[in-house]
Amino acid sequence: MSDLPYVLVLYYSGQGATRALAERIAAGVESVAGVDARLRTVAPVSPTCEAVDPEIPAEGAIYADLDDLRNASGLALGSPTRFGNMAAPLKHFLDGTSELWLSGALIDKPATAFTSTSSLHGGQETTLVTMLMPLLHHGMVYAGLPYSETALTRTQGGGTPYGVSHLAGVRSDRPLDEHERELAFAQGARLARLTLALADARKGAS
Ligand SMILES: Cc1cc2nc3c(=O)[nH]c(=O)nc-3n(C[C@H](O)[C@H](O)[C@H](O)COP(=O)(O)O)c2cc1C
Repeated sequence: MSDLPYVLVLYYSGQGATRALAERIAAGVESVAGVDARLRTVAPVSPTCEAVDPEIPAEGAIYADLDDLRNASGLALGSPTRFGNMAAPLKHFLDGTSELWLSGALIDKPATAFTSTSSLHGGQETTLVTMLMPLLHHGMVYAGLPYSETALTRTQGGGTPYGVSHLAGVRSDRPLDEHERELAFAQGARLARLTLALADARKGAS
């Protein structure tokens, strides 16, 4: 692994749609010189507390641990929409971050969020707002998407000023469209630029 500062792209994805967004955001991050992207996922939540998941997931990124988050210089957080809210596995992971909150490990670091839904008006913005709240409690600086990204006004699918979103369709078979891809990439690149700027500002302040 390099010594460069990294953006943690942390997501949960049941069927792969949120993962596709995560990978595109990571490509945007990596397009900015001087910042790496680190893709990580979280384990599903089991209905029984005895169930233990394999250490390596069957597909996608490996599971995040607290150090991945503690040492990140920026964070992109992704979840499918579940009843207008973030999915339980991601919330479960975030509920285990009290130690980072107590030490202030994430204060003044930039963060953003992304989501995927089956229906166009099925709660993309509300889900992004549920993901914003724990980030604010951690003292992170939230960055959505500005309307200078003109795909925001042209999209017929996902894409919101709260963060990029994806319309996966009821059968979850709709790939990222041109505007969603453009916005996810732009969001990753913007987060990477903010990561460098805020890392410099934190150095200057200390
Ligand atoms: C329990 C549950 C609740 C869901 N709630 C919503 C919802 O509120 N709005 C919506 O449009 N889709 C909803 N969906 C569909 C998922 O958000 C959608 O299929 C998403 O693209 C899945 O992303 P993934 O492929 O990353 O798992 C729900 C799915 C499940 C399983």
